[in-house]
Amino acid sequence: MNKIITVLLLLGCAHFAVASPFATGDAVAGEQLFKQLKCNSCHINMMGGDGSAIFTRPNSRVHNAAQLSAQITRCGGNVEREFSAQETQNIAAYLNRYYQLK
Ligand code: HEC
Repeated sequence: MNKIITVLLLLGCAHFAVASPFATGDAVAGEQLFKQLKCNSCHINMMGGDGSAIFTRPNSRVHNAAQLSAQITRCGGNVEREFSAQETQNIAAYLNRYYQLK
């Protein structure tokens, strides 16, 4: 009986451990904004393909949620946009398909 309870507790913890840091972000809205603003235009020039290889490059500058948000803010400047906190969350929720930040 104790073993079962332990297993259930561990599963409960594992569930919390995989919760997205961008749980309040809307990944669909983020993807729309990303495409609408042609965010990948420079990334395509740099990396080729559809540009998304920039997110998985070995020397990625993004290692945690705060760094991803900061880079989205920086790159917003590249498209002359100042994102709201919610827009940043939305784009981060979308880009986290590459980063898998937890
Ligand atoms: C004017 C060109 C340009 C545009 C437009 C642009 N980016 Fe970038 N982006 C870059 C460059 C250059 C880097 C690499 C920065 C570095 O290595 O210091 C980068 C890196 C990134 C990274 C980090 C990649 C990694 O893991 O190292 C993210 C995330 C990102 N951009 C998001 C965006 C988003 C979101 C938009 C649209 C709002 C956008 N970018 C538009 C030039 C651009």
